[in-house]
Amino acid sequence: MDVSREQARIDAVRWYHEFDFGNGLRARSVSDTEAHRRMWRFVEDCLAGVDFRGKTVLDIGCWDGYWSFHAERRGAAGVLAADDFTQNWAGADGLFLARELLGSKVETDTRRSVYDLAGIGRRFDVVLFLGVYYHLFDPFHALAQVRHCCHPGTVVCVEGNDGPNLPPDTALFDPENGGGKFLPSIGHLRRLLRAAYLSVAAEHVLEAPPPPPPPPPQGRVGWRWRLAMCRQVLAGSRPGIADLAGRVIPPPPPPPYEPLTASRRVFLTCTPFEGENPAHYYRPPFGLHAYDPRFRDEARAGERAA
Ligand SMILES: C[S@@+](CC[C@H](N)C(=O)[O-])C[C@H]1O[C@@H](n2cnc3c(N)ncnc32)[C@H](O)[C@@H]1O
Repeated sequence: MDVSREQARIDAVRWYHEFDFGNGLRARSVSDTEAHRRMWRFVEDCLAGVDFRGKTVLDIGCWDGYWSFHAERRGAAGVLAADDFTQNWAGADGLFLARELLGSKVETDTRRSVYDLAGIGRRFDVVLFLGVYYHLFDPFHALAQVRHCCHPGTVVCVEGNDGPNLPPDTALFDPENGGGKFLPSIGHLRRLLRAAYLSVAAEHVLEAPPPPPPPPPQGRVGWRWRLAMCRQVLAGSRPGIADLAGRVIPPPPPPPYEPLTASRRVFLTCTPFEGENPAHYYRPPFGLHAYDPRFRDEARAGERAA
C-alpha cells in the first residue's frame, strides 16, 4: 500500500469525525475541538448499553458513517447508513472512503431524507438518530418517520441538544439558526417522542463543561504599579485609579445565571408503543394513526365503507 497516496486521499476529504484507519492512516476532523471529542465519548458511553450483536441497524443522518461503523464493529448483522447529503457541508465522500478503508459491508443510502424514512420499507432492530433532530425544520415529522422504521422490539437511540434553562416542557425554534434550529427542554423532547408513539426507557445527560475560573491574582504588585497608583491617588483621578486597579484585580465572576439558549447534550433510549396516546385527541398526522386503535380502526372502517 502506498501510505502517502492513501493519506492524501483521506486529507482531500473534509471530515466531521476522527478515524484511525490503521497503518498510520488517520482522518482528522475539521472541527478538531475537545468539545466534540467529549461529546463523542458521551455517545460511545451511552451506546455501550446497546446490544448490536446480530441486529439490523439504521443510522439516520450518518454523515461519514462513524456510528454505523461502530455498530458494525460491535457485531451488527447489517447496517444501513442513511443521510441526505444536501444537508451538510461535507457531502458523501467521507462515508464512501471510510467504508472502503475499513473494508466495511455497511449499506449506504446517501439521498435519504429523514422525512422519507418510511420509503426505505424496512423495520430495524436498532435505530440511531444521533445529532440530527435539532437541525431540522420539522422534528416531529422526522420522529414520525423514525417510528415507521420500528417493529415492537426496536431500540431507538435519540441524541442531541436540550435547553436546561428553558421553562419545563417548552422549546425554542429559530429557523435561521444554522447551528441548531430547534432547542427543546428535555420535557418537550419526551412529549414529542410520546406524540410519535415512542416512550423513553432511559436518559443520559452530558452537562456543558463549567466555564474556566478567572485567573488568580499574581503575587505582590510591583513598585512601579504602586508608585503609579500613588500618583493617581494624589491627583484624585478616578479613571486613573480604576484603570490601574483593573490591571491587578481579577474580573468579576460571570453572573450566576446562564442564558435561556444554553444547551447540553442528552441521549434518550426509546421503545415504540401502540395504544391510546393522550397527545392525540384527533387522528394524528404522518401515518401515526396506525399505532393507535382509536384512529386505526376508524380509518379501516372508513376504508371498508368507501
Ligand atoms: C451533526 S451531524 C450528526 C452526524 C452523526 N449522526 C453523529 O451523531 O455524529 C447531522 C447530520 O444530519 C444530517 N441531516 C440533517 N438534516 C437532514 C435531513 N433532513 N435528512 C437526512 N439527514 C439530515 C446531516 O446531513 C448530517 O450528516
